[in-house]
Amino acid sequence: MKIYAAKDYSDLSRKAANLISAQIIMKPDAVLGLATGSTPVGAYKQLIAWYEEGDLDFSRIRSVNLDEYKGLSGEHDQSYRYFMNHNLFNHVNIRKEDTNVPNGLAEDAEAECVRYNGVIAAMGGIDLQLLGIGGNGHIGFNEPSSVFEKGTHVVTLTEETRQSNARFFASIDEVPTHALTMGVGNIMSARKILLLASGEAKAKAVY
Ligand code: PGA
Repeated sequence: MKIYAAKDYSDLSRKAANLISAQIIMKPDAVLGLATGSTPVGAYKQLIAWYEEGDLDFSRIRSVNLDEYKGLSGEHDQSYRYFMNHNLFNHVNIRKEDTNVPNGLAEDAEAECVRYNGVIAAMGGIDLQLLGIGGNGHIGFNEPSSVFEKGTHVVTLTEETRQSNARFFASIDEVPTHALTMGVGNIMSARKILLLASGEAKAKAVY
């Protein structure tokens, strides 16, 4: 494991974008595992800027996202599909059909999790998985625990996580109660992992 210290958020974002772009340049058809949340936004902005300058090509890149709220459609402005479209996919030349986010509206969420594991396997696994981390240490929607699910699964969100995400919704009642998330096994099978943490609120989790 390598730890890169960054002097501030913009330095962190640039360093992260550098590592992601190295992956894209070394393997133009790489599978990127992507994350939502406020932390990776700066890195996505930097990648978009480098794409616009002609330094990056996403045309053969494929992606799988970590998680999605259960019950939200991709058009809902708090869904993670919406986040990815607006913070990255709409601004680069990735083919939308090569981007994957769990379907929050799947009638059978368990079957959707099985399908999602199959999507990751069919792509040959993840080359570089980008991660944020929750203040309590959660990764994706995998909350701290002594036992972890390996594969993609449905989780009941903790009150702490719902409260912390309530700022993005009109009220706490609108925050979904469940989500579909990759498991720790999916994440740990990635060939490389890049975990970003910024700010004092993450210090304890990183420690
Ligand atoms: P953040 O969320 O990037 O918005 O801090 C990270 C997380 O909760 O996984």
